[in-house]
Amino acid sequence: MQTIFRGKHFISLQDFTKEEIDTMLEVSIDLKKKFAMGVPTPYLQNKTMFLMFFEQSTRTRNSMEAGIAQLGGHANFLDTSTMQISHGESAKDTAIILSRFGHAIACRYCNWGIGNKYLNEMAKWSTAPIMNLQCDLYHPFQALADLMTMKEKLGDLKRIKVSIIWAYAESHKKPISVPVSQVLLFPRYGMDVVLAHPKGWELPDWVIEKAKANAAKFGGTVTVTNNEEEAYEGAHIVIPKNWGSWVTDQSETVVDDKLVAHKSWKCTEAKMALADKEVMYMHALPADRNNEVEDSVIDGPHSIVYDEAENRLHTAKAVMTLLMGGR
Ligand code: CP
Repeated sequence: MQTIFRGKHFISLQDFTKEEIDTMLEVSIDLKKKFAMGVPTPYLQNKTMFLMFFEQSTRTRNSMEAGIAQLGGHANFLDTSTMQISHGESAKDTAIILSRFGHAIACRYCNWGIGNKYLNEMAKWSTAPIMNLQCDLYHPFQALADLMTMKEKLGDLKRIKVSIIWAYAESHKKPISVPVSQVLLFPRYGMDVVLAHPKGWELPDWVIEKAKANAAKFGGTVTVTNNEEEAYEGAHIVIPKNWGSWVTDQSETVVDDKLVAHKSWKCTEAKMALADKEVMYMHALPADRNNEVEDSVIDGPHSIVYDEAENRLHTAKAVMTLLMGGR
């Protein structure tokens, strides 16, 4: 078991070995059990972390804030519009100062072409770990919670067919970071990953190349298709979720004719019937109900979305404990 995390940043799970991710999962399970039993876990007593948000959040903010409180530490929530960042203060100066004040800096910044670069710039200068609360490319906390949930439900994930399926939504032009993190991570656990989307909603070529390399190394497969039904057929897990067409179209427009033409990409009971009879429905949330998915699916017997969301807390606590405490 690899347990030495000190000095590491948490920007992408690609930066961690499988052995290190396995340690994160084991610590998450341990923390989950202790939380259920009311056993105190004061592993980060007197530690301070900063939570910088350029965008809205429910799960991520609260899993980090509740998580560090349960570990005996404290989080400062920072709406970046109220920081000197809004007057142009640099990532370098922000990272140096906050890392002198505390023990970690976590940040959500999803602007296309900007967010990941900002996090890496902070990581270059910070003397404390930088944690990615979602950027334009990666959402590692979400992917880790997804993996934990799948392992809890199924145990060994080898040859499990998991389909990451683009779905129609109108709420906002969402980042690609959730499907990117999932398609990179799941083949490392031997899963047969199907990525389905309409033409125009491609993930970057380098993502697919890395995902296929991960599959070749760990015994999984990665298939990319424009056929939605192919993704549902025989699937053990389906993850129908919207993402924006950032790779092919960088405009910020949310709803246009091109999007509306794909309104039929909704997760319905009829499509779920094509999958394995024990299929599980997952979604990082928030879901765009009745656009991405029918209520009868997300509220139905195949849905595990609340277990998935709950695991955001336990995985967040594990990552904070391993990167900020211990060795
Ligand atoms: N899944 C997720 O990251 O949720 P929030 O946007 O509410 O943090």
